[in-house]
Amino acid sequence: MSVSDKIKFLKEKKEKIALGGGVKKIDAQHQKGKLTARERLNLLFDEGTFVEIDAFVIHRCVNFDMASTKMDGESVVTGYGQVDGRIVYAFSQDFTVIGGSLGEKHADKIVKVLDNAAKVGAPVVGMNDSGGARIQEAVDALNGYGEIFFRNSRFSGVVPQISAIMGPCAGGAVYSPALTDFIFMVDQTSQMFITGPNVIKAVTGEVVTAEQLGGAKTHNSVSGCANFLSSDDETCIAEIRRLLSFLPSNNMELAPEFECSDDINRENPEFDTIIPDSANKAYNMFDVIAGIVDNADYMEYMPLYAKNIITCFARLNGKSVGIIANQPMVMAGCLDINCSDKCARFIRTCDAFNIPLLTICDTPGYLPGTAQEYGGIIRHGAKILYAYSEATVPKITLVTRKSYGGANLAMCSKSLGADMVFAWPSAEIAVMGGDGAVNVIFAKEIKESKDPNKTKQERLDEYNENFSNPYKAAERGFVDDVIIPSTSRKRIIDALIMLEGKRDTLPAKKHDNLPL
Ligand code: HXC
Repeated sequence: MSVSDKIKFLKEKKEKIALGGGVKKIDAQHQKGKLTARERLNLLFDEGTFVEIDAFVIHRCVNFDMASTKMDGESVVTGYGQVDGRIVYAFSQDFTVIGGSLGEKHADKIVKVLDNAAKVGAPVVGMNDSGGARIQEAVDALNGYGEIFFRNSRFSGVVPQISAIMGPCAGGAVYSPALTDFIFMVDQTSQMFITGPNVIKAVTGEVVTAEQLGGAKTHNSVSGCANFLSSDDETCIAEIRRLLSFLPSNNMELAPEFECSDDINRENPEFDTIIPDSANKAYNMFDVIAGIVDNADYMEYMPLYAKNIITCFARLNGKSVGIIANQPMVMAGCLDINCSDKCARFIRTCDAFNIPLLTICDTPGYLPGTAQEYGGIIRHGAKILYAYSEATVPKITLVTRKSYGGANLAMCSKSLGADMVFAWPSAEIAVMGGDGAVNVIFAKEIKESKDPNKTKQERLDEYNENFSNPYKAAERGFVDDVIIPSTSRKRIIDALIMLEGKRDTLPAKKHDNLPL
């Protein structure tokens, strides 16, 4: 064969590989509302930057006629490219080839992506669309998953790992995404479950559809296993690119900085009247967040789960911050089991990747009740305290209104390492709310009074006057400054600039022991 024939052969081979399972299978993929593995990669990366590796890899299984179904590429497309000019590694499972099923060599390709990404300090995006372990490859397939899980865990906190579920993801296969930092799911076309509807029916008799069992809405709003819900593949990939813009490439770097087109001294006059005079009335914490951050632009993390707490990425002065804020409009902003898990995970993700934390506090406390106690609120609630205490990034707290009891500490108090604590004049920082406090400490006096209601009201007024304000905490230095609400953006940005040189380290240890 002449050299030119060899080049022709290579070109033709690559063209064939690019067709994956062939035109018919690609059409079927499109009919399901899904893009192909390569179309997804092309959308993920800046135009023309994707470099494929391992396109010629082939499985070596001979069980069940597999010797006659050898296809270059091994049902997963892998490589690297640029996202907004930064190197990112990716793998994209190709459902058109043997259902995207994972065998030994498929796993090897993903393992190489993970190893390379960790070596060069680049994020990894994994696009999952697979029938799971390739049944014909038996234990080789299982071992392949193990190799991937091992690296997902070992590289956790080293490079950001993002999973997109864009088709089936069944059985143990779900545990690779579960071990990564972020999970996106596409509505109606993606499912994750340990055991599918048929097995469930056979074992428990329960009847459920795949979508109800493990669809994007289920995992985003009920189980909390997914962090973002997208309407289709295109939106999902655009959102992954957006998320990457808030993250550094690895744990040794800072997130990319953007030019700030929003005045850093901008005031928010509406903040001076946003807090209702009645302590029992709610206001929308999203209005506070939008007012503070650059260009009112933020990206919510787990927007459909535990809505009593808001977690989002945003920028202040062009730099990434992670925001944790109680939402008084949902359950009065109480802390519960689900919001503890969501919040602690978010704090640890930000800290792992050097993203400063802004906490905005307005919560009456932990939610009371047997459901919470039996569900383990002690253990789950502890995660927030742990995550804040452990975090070494700059930590700024703003108390807008209620900050009572354990929740005062849980929303990043000075004692948990907040570098700057600001309070609005409307802040109420105390051991507990007035009503509860008066009922405890003046119980006898109220009971013996000729006019219990009057006595209670007098004591309540006295308590509120003395304790439901930010000044007792400020007297002790637990609040660094009580600020005019409209100046919040400027004050927080000032503090972040001051904290840019912050150095904080944890005591030497093998690893921590987060309550789980
Ligand atoms: C080998 C597989 C496969 C698998 C699908 N295919 N899954 N081949 N191993 N796990 C093949 C099909 O035979 C078919 O080949 C092609 O992929 C497309 O599959 P279809 O069934 O035609 O597609 P669809 O109707 O869309 O259904 C998709 C599906 C279904 C829901 C994913 O294929 C399915 O239920 N697959 C099995 C899922 C499963 O039980 N996986 C094992 C999980 S256990 P042809 O040649 O006909 O095109 C697991 C353990 C991991 O993953 C443990 C890690 C710890």
